[in-house]
Amino acid sequence: KRHLISAADLTRDDAILILDTAEEMARVADRPIKKLPTLRGRTVVNLFFEDSTRTRISFEAAAKRLSADVINFSAKGSSVSKGESLKDTALTLEAMGADAVVIRHHASGAPHRLANSGWIGGSVVNAGDGTHEHPTQALLDAFTMRRHLAGAADGGPVHHRGPGDGTGRDLEGRRVTIVGDVLHSRVARSNVHLLGTLGAHVTLVAPPTLLPIGIENWPCEVSYDLDAVLAKSDAVMMLRVQRERMNAAFFPTEREYSRRYGLDAARMAALPEHAIVMHPGPMNRGMEIAAEVADSVRSTIVEQVSNGVSVRMAVMYLLLGGAAPPAELPAAATA
Ligand code: CP
Repeated sequence: KRHLISAADLTRDDAILILDTAEEMARVADRPIKKLPTLRGRTVVNLFFEDSTRTRISFEAAAKRLSADVINFSAKGSSVSKGESLKDTALTLEAMGADAVVIRHHASGAPHRLANSGWIGGSVVNAGDGTHEHPTQALLDAFTMRRHLAGAADGGPVHHRGPGDGTGRDLEGRRVTIVGDVLHSRVARSNVHLLGTLGAHVTLVAPPTLLPIGIENWPCEVSYDLDAVLAKSDAVMMLRVQRERMNAAFFPTEREYSRRYGLDAARMAALPEHAIVMHPGPMNRGMEIAAEVADSVRSTIVEQVSNGVSVRMAVMYLLLGGAAPPAELPAAATA
């Protein structure tokens, strides 16, 4: 494949290859010299039309660890603010020789448009488009779940197990509960697709006003009662309430929202002993997740950020340079 636009485009084999490659990349991160020469001479452009902390920095770190040249473009402060179009911005990047464009855009479908326009010749990676998809977030979430939950027999606590079992079945049957503002969440959509492909069972929990039209066609279950699903969850993923995308009429009061859909210490205690607590960030501490939960030993929130670098290295390696099988990577490292 040349682009990564949607988690829905990934076959099970694609997803497993990315996750296994990311495990190899994580080993590189553990070495004193964290760089591979794989993408030396290639140029990666981070094209961000919307704010980001984690995704932009981790794509930059990933490209640099693969020895690529990185150009960071933020719409703020660029000629986009003078009205320049996506097409003319893309043609400008193409003229500068971009081998890959990592794009975050407020418009759902912008990465697809870029990939299929003919404006650029390189690979396009979706770093989050509107309320549509955020495939590398779903991949780093699956990577994190696999590290904690892979191989756990039903009810068996397995923490920090490390790489997956290599069979591709290691999230099969795991139960993942995704809670909150599903309506505006590209993270939820990408996770539902990817986790379904990997054989996990996903339950979405949200107020009815924060679920998208057509949710009955998504490959997952829906519940309005968080307390009813916690005890059978292997992972619970809290979503940020996206007030900036929201009409006030959609939203109960913050207090009411926290009371019904927030994860506090009492609710965390209802989870099975081995279950993990996730959040893609940025968090609204005290609203969808209590600070003591976010900072607890069951929280993988900071680890998710670290894993994002390995996963994004794997994606760029496979899209741009990955001729060698992942197992050969450490031997190829000379930088
Ligand atoms: N999870 C995530 O996409 O965070 P940023 O918006 O900070 O990139």
